[in-house]
Amino acid sequence: METTSTFRLLDGKAISAAYRQDIAREVEQLRAAGKRAPHLSAILVGANGASETYVASKIKNCKEVGFESSLFRFPDTVTEAELLDKINSINNDSSIDGLLVQLPLPKHISVQRITETISPEKDVDGFHPLNQGRMVQNLPCYLPATPYGIMLMLEHEGITTAGKHCVVIGRSNIVGMPMSILMSRNADPGNATVTLCHSRSTDLSAITRTADILIAAIGKPRFVTSDMVKEGAVVIDVGIIRIEDSSTKSGYRITGDVDFENVAPKCSYISPVPGGVGLMTIVGLLKNTLRAAKGEVKFSF
Ligand code: GUN
Repeated sequence: METTSTFRLLDGKAISAAYRQDIAREVEQLRAAGKRAPHLSAILVGANGASETYVASKIKNCKEVGFESSLFRFPDTVTEAELLDKINSINNDSSIDGLLVQLPLPKHISVQRITETISPEKDVDGFHPLNQGRMVQNLPCYLPATPYGIMLMLEHEGITTAGKHCVVIGRSNIVGMPMSILMSRNADPGNATVTLCHSRSTDLSAITRTADILIAAIGKPRFVTSDMVKEGAVVIDVGIIRIEDSSTKSGYRITGDVDFENVAPKCSYISPVPGGVGLMTIVGLLKNTLRAAKGEVKFSF
């Protein structure tokens, strides 16, 4: 079969830079109107290498667009009560607009209790059940940062989603599940026919081969191979996996869920890893924080 081979790269670096510039401009306008800069707080527990990297990147990006930021670190021996106290004090601090608690957390801490304690009006990760419920009903809310970033990427590139078959692999609360909801909503981008696949799906390849848009969010290196992809598909790789590699300075390299080299020639568009969705996740977070500072999501009537 003939291959497309002229795929277009969904370049997270360039696309995120364009969005960050828009955000920085809005911050300048807020400041010019006498308002303070948006302020994001992050809570980081323990010393997980990947989490350290993600949080450092979030803080750096805040600075670059003119946001205030604050980072609260706790050892992995912290009690749940101590974390809940910190969250409550940030909830009550009117100088802070957005709060995220970096996941994963140590086993002795309930992610559900932490998530539900964050004020839904400061929940810029969009993980609170009230935000996720509003997302399902297409009401004003914070969207989870990674799915939001992917929607912004599709919008920026003018990729048609209406009427297309979108297959999402992975059903996590953070990516796969909300992605399936956003792609099926009556919105643009959206209006796709969505199939959500997961570990119990049978004959996965038969399903993925029917995808016009394939979104891989499973965290398994190079899981999506070229035989799983239809000619001309849009492929979005959400995986960010560290693979040991003694030839690199850090001792690891980053790979995605998609076997990029072999899949790309079949695609109309494909996102690389690194340099793809990861950078858009930060855009989603920054946009949520800006919306929080502007008071755009309210839960009190
Ligand atoms: N861990 C992996 N992804 C995320 C994210 O988007 N937000 C937070 N808080 N933790 C994560």
